[in-house]
Amino acid sequence: MSTHRAAVHPAANKPYEVKQVPTPQPTSSQVLIQITASAINPVDWKIADGGFPAKFPAILGSDAAGIVSKVGDGVKSLSVGDRVFFQGTLGSSDGCTFQEYAVMEEALVSKTPDNMNDGEGSGVQLASMAALVGLYDKSGGFEVKPAPWDKGGNEAGKGQALVILGGSSSVGQYAIQFARLSGFSKIITTSSSSHTDHLKALGATDVVDRSSTAQDFLKIAGDLPMNGVYDAIGSEETLKQGTSILEQRHKGTDHVSHYVSVIPPRDEFENNVTRKAILGMGSSPALHHVSHPFVKAVSGNEGWVGKGLFKPNRTQKVDGGLEKGLQKALDLNKKGVSGVKVWFDPRE
Ligand SMILES: NC(=O)c1ccc[n+]([C@@H]2O[C@H](COP(=O)([O-])OP(=O)(O)OC[C@H]3O[C@@H](n4cnc5c(N)ncnc54)[C@H](OP(=O)(O)O)[C@@H]3O)[C@@H](O)[C@H]2O)c1
Repeated sequence: MSTHRAAVHPAANKPYEVKQVPTPQPTSSQVLIQITASAINPVDWKIADGGFPAKFPAILGSDAAGIVSKVGDGVKSLSVGDRVFFQGTLGSSDGCTFQEYAVMEEALVSKTPDNMNDGEGSGVQLASMAALVGLYDKSGGFEVKPAPWDKGGNEAGKGQALVILGGSSSVGQYAIQFARLSGFSKIITTSSSSHTDHLKALGATDVVDRSSTAQDFLKIAGDLPMNGVYDAIGSEETLKQGTSILEQRHKGTDHVSHYVSVIPPRDEFENNVTRKAILGMGSSPALHHVSHPFVKAVSGNEGWVGKGLFKPNRTQKVDGGLEKGLQKALDLNKKGVSGVKVWFDPRE
């Protein structure tokens, strides 16, 4: 039996231990991936700190890039040696990414284009999934149609305004790009001013301070219809900000609009605004209708990333591999990052 190194969390609030664990064999529809870059998302330290439900002992981590090292006999689109990036499968230690090898379903693995390095690739899928589920799946309430990979999708938001709170966050940067691909006429986002040029290059039309009032947003939107606010932060502050924009926009009418947040649980309806929260787990069968086409859309040199239509987050590498780098990287993300995705290489 072959083995590899993994960071195993024995229980919530206990330090992880780096151990040899059995290397899984891919089933017919899976590939085994050697992980070369593993990105940190807030969910990782939230689970490790016991703030998110999980079964322990567990291997965590759900965003990575690597190299295909084995393929199942039914796999058609991937071969040994391909550079790939993917969202790991939280809840399944074999599919998580704080380790040297993971198995993944072929349909959830994108080929890494030549213009993207593995550190950049490691941070694409999870945060993108949160953005696209919020915008294109019914669980967000908003459900922009058609999605950007479908015919006519590039005009779905034409003539409309969309507010994205937290544009410089990992999720926010991808939400801005989806909004641009959907053709929204005004994409108004909040961020510290140091990220204004970058967010405009991604597609934001207007970047405002996080302290902006509902009236500030509505002044920028002008007469354009506004059916939704995407909240990439999900704090009490952004909940108030997002819902008040929609409430004031539609005051005195029976128009129903949609606030969608990244922090579950939330499923409420007040003052004609649906307030929903999404879970961007692309491996969930109910979300395959968005995760599978997205994985294809960003795959390879001919995909959105290869063609320069969809940009990965800017990155910060932490040295020290699983033993030392992972904990440093988790601490860094928890302390608070601004506009960067932190990653480490588990092979070090
Ligand atoms: N539901 C899901 O499936 C899902 C998936 C992914 C993430 N999430 C959650 O989404 C949240 C964001 O994750 P992330 O990885 O994108 O975060 P991140 O990149 O670590 O977020 C950091 C950014 O948040 C911005 N920010 C913080 N408070 C803000 C506010 N009040 N207004 C505007 N911007 C604010 C900061 O902006 P400045 O530096 O510009 O000030 C900073 O750039 C986390 O809570 C995470 O757990 C949920």
